[in-house]
Amino acid sequence: MADGFASSADRAAFIAALPKAELHLHIEGSLEPALMFELAQRNNIAIPFASVDEVRAAYAFSNLQDFLDIYYQGMGVLHSEQDFYDLTAAYLARANADAVRHVEIFFDPQGHTARGIAFETVIGGISRALADAKITYGISSKLIMCLLRHLSEAEAEATLDEALPYLGRIDGVGLDSSEVGHPPSKFANVFARARSLGMKIVAHAGEEGPPAYVHEALDLLKVDRIDHGNRSLEDPALVARLAGDAMCLTVCPLSNLKLCVVDDMADHPLRTMLDAGLVATVNSDDPSYFGGYVNANYLAVADALDLSKSELVTLAKNSFAGSFLGENDKAKHVAAIDAYV
Ligand code: ADE
Ligand code: ZN
Repeated sequence: MADGFASSADRAAFIAALPKAELHLHIEGSLEPALMFELAQRNNIAIPFASVDEVRAAYAFSNLQDFLDIYYQGMGVLHSEQDFYDLTAAYLARANADAVRHVEIFFDPQGHTARGIAFETVIGGISRALADAKITYGISSKLIMCLLRHLSEAEAEATLDEALPYLGRIDGVGLDSSEVGHPPSKFANVFARARSLGMKIVAHAGEEGPPAYVHEALDLLKVDRIDHGNRSLEDPALVARLAGDAMCLTVCPLSNLKLCVVDDMADHPLRTMLDAGLVATVNSDDPSYFGGYVNANYLAVADALDLSKSELVTLAKNSFAGSFLGENDKAKHVAAIDAYV
């Protein structure tokens, strides 16, 4: 066992209290089955499951689309501002338990407005829970509105219009949903407008899609961060560019396993990314659907790849370096990691 760990339990204990940021978390993907049932009852909505065990049994996916179909169905129980508050508060309590000190959360407004839920209801509940978590746990946050890439750019533009009154509470714009067939170039205009509004830009790229989509995210969307980015490794010139630009990748190990992006955690590319000098981070993506929150992701990939203490420290430091915090805050968090080690 490498650098300082006598056992997996020893490594788990180190990860448990290691200060970290989470940069890739879809709040709708943190909807636990128990809360799904509670909200279904609260809102008088029928769901096609009889028990929590039945829900969990349905979470067997062979690709991204399999998952997305059930993810969009699951979020249908979210109706009131309080529902969005409860969802977000539950995630933040879990994040706090995992020594997460800063979160950058995605939400999918089009998954709600298409069902007749007002933008105000969604952002009201999420942002109220984020403000409370700052007071209760000292967890800081940024909020990123994702645009669904299986929809049109015109629909994305309309969603950006709806977000305009709330820009004080939205820090960035992302691109998610079905990747293959929906390249970043489809959204070049709406992302240019978001950039001109001063918003940070991220995009899922290279999860299932080819390295060309990562190039497009860089060149056309002018992203500040790449979500996933796994398939970048197929293109050595792209790897050199990402490393040279210190472009952060928000990697999600348990998601990659559950969505068959990797066949075996022992084949996960995280070590290769670190060895190539990439600013890779570890995140949970949709923890309720993929079987673990951020520390479970660190542990699963660290055990499978026998990651050392110094590699885990690099991952945690990368999570702050790649965040949208200011330089002073980043330095404080990195100092806290050094003090912990
Ligand atoms: N929406 C929620 N999780 C996602 C993922 N991993 N990839 C693309 N879209 C998503
Ligand atoms: Zn994601």
